[in-house]
Amino acid sequence: MEYPTIQELIAQLDQKKQTVAAGGGEQRVQKQHEMGKLTARERLDKLFDPATFVELDMLAEHRCTNFDMEKTEVPADGVVTGYGQVNGRLTYAFAQDFTVIGGSLGEMHAKKICKIQDLALKMGAPVIGINDSGGARIQEGVDSLYGYGEIFYRNTIASGVIPQISVIVGPCAGGAVYSPALTDFVFMEKGSARMFITGPEVIKSVTGEEVSAEALGGAMAHNQNSGNAHFACDSEDELFETVRRLLSYLPQNNMEDPYPVEATDEPNRREESLIDLIPTNPNKPYDACEVIAKIVDHGEFLEVHHYYAPNIVVGFARLHGETIGIVANQTRVMAGCLDINASDKGARFVRFCDAFNIPLLTIVDTPGYLPGTAQEHGGIIRHGAKLLYAYSEATVPKVTLIVRKAYGGAYIAMCARHLGADMVVAWPQAEIAVMGAEGAANIIFRREIKEAENSNAKRQEKIAEYRENFSNPYQAAKRGYVDQVINPGDTRPVLISAFRMTTNKRESRPRKKHGNIPL
Ligand code: HXC
Repeated sequence: MEYPTIQELIAQLDQKKQTVAAGGGEQRVQKQHEMGKLTARERLDKLFDPATFVELDMLAEHRCTNFDMEKTEVPADGVVTGYGQVNGRLTYAFAQDFTVIGGSLGEMHAKKICKIQDLALKMGAPVIGINDSGGARIQEGVDSLYGYGEIFYRNTIASGVIPQISVIVGPCAGGAVYSPALTDFVFMEKGSARMFITGPEVIKSVTGEEVSAEALGGAMAHNQNSGNAHFACDSEDELFETVRRLLSYLPQNNMEDPYPVEATDEPNRREESLIDLIPTNPNKPYDACEVIAKIVDHGEFLEVHHYYAPNIVVGFARLHGETIGIVANQTRVMAGCLDINASDKGARFVRFCDAFNIPLLTIVDTPGYLPGTAQEHGGIIRHGAKLLYAYSEATVPKVTLIVRKAYGGAYIAMCARHLGADMVVAWPQAEIAVMGAEGAANIIFRREIKEAENSNAKRQEKIAEYRENFSNPYQAAKRGYVDQVINPGDTRPVLISAFRMTTNKRESRPRKKHGNIPL
């Protein structure tokens, strides 16, 4: 018997790899490009540092024999999986290949993804899932459902242990949407991404409602309306750049702290412009992002969930080179009131930061929880409680900056001292009270106002009296609920010093299986 030479074997291997790397072939790749989409491998090139990606299970093959599947070649079983470096750090990823039977998920496809998830958990590194798929591979029946179940299970086990990010750059339909939903951050590309449990055709046949796929499950539908997605990007280039940027703020896993960068912005920088930025008139709005930009290193702030519940702003920045998570009321929208969506958004972000050792800065200017039947019947009590729960549960360093209004329950919910803030700093225009001066005066001086000769003048007098006595930071400072009242211009150095003070913070909680956050 004649054995093949090693050169022949290598040539055979190269040939196999070349065939697999071609995915669904030239025509389907061309169709993918015509739709404005990249291929799975092109996407991984955008995500990883150059020449660092190592592909695993390139030669995996399905074993389905239904519907003549044994005659069907499915290169890499429709998903490219592996690991590499992002910003020089180990990262795992999978990218579904729509050019190969629609990126549909069968048994081997799922096993490849599960292997990546298992490795990432074992090595303590983030996982990025790139979704572009027609969903469960119909020919594989229950094997596809098995696959999804295994992926969801791993998503859940890894939650809070390693960062998990989902990228949607094509269809992601049916039960397939639940893997992204179980991860920490969902990115959607505006042109191509579609997420829904049931598509427009099913909806039409069941309810008669007509809706386009874009309106139903496009990037803006989920960024703005449902809150399922956290980032909407104009192009895949922008999307992968943003994923890389997001990863730069995060630790590899829950046992590590986020990686500091070299502190190149002046720690003692006073910012005179902060003094006039927030109007002392409590009814005038301003942009919370502008306040944030003036405090953090180089004004760089990566906002998360920008389009959803814009009455609260959340995102990542650095202070003296160290990652912090920021939660701030946005007075430009609903005066910065907390409503159901803002509570969900804030609580989820706080829990992510706590799970991954990211210190929290809370910037407070809110008149309270939003009143109204829609909110009450929608469950503001239950949803609002999430924010209280998330802050109380968080053991990461917590610094709170009260810049203007901090009224009532919302004062407490925005990480008051009473929920375990390690440092509370207030500006002189801060108003820490049960409610605003107008409302309070109308209640507690009702009789005097009513009986006065000129009730309007009396009301104004009482409002002024209340404001003088209570609408300031000094009552809270007298009790030690506010640690420092500062000149707004000094905010950056004060906060840097506060977070430095918390560097070695240790705080434990009673042992339990897990709490029961009101969902
Ligand atoms: C097998 C599939 C497939 C699937 C697409 N293809 N989806 N093959 N199983 N689920 C194949 C197509 O037959 C086609 O093969 C190729 O992929 C490209 O698909 P096209 O339809 O030509 O592409 P396009 O016109 O862009 O439409 C994309 C699409 C559509 C909207 C995703 O393919 C579609 O509706 N697919 C079915 C979606 C679906 O109902 N999936 C099941 C969801 S339920 P050829 O050979 O012609 O190129 C689910 C349950 C999960 O996922 C439960 C988990 C708990």
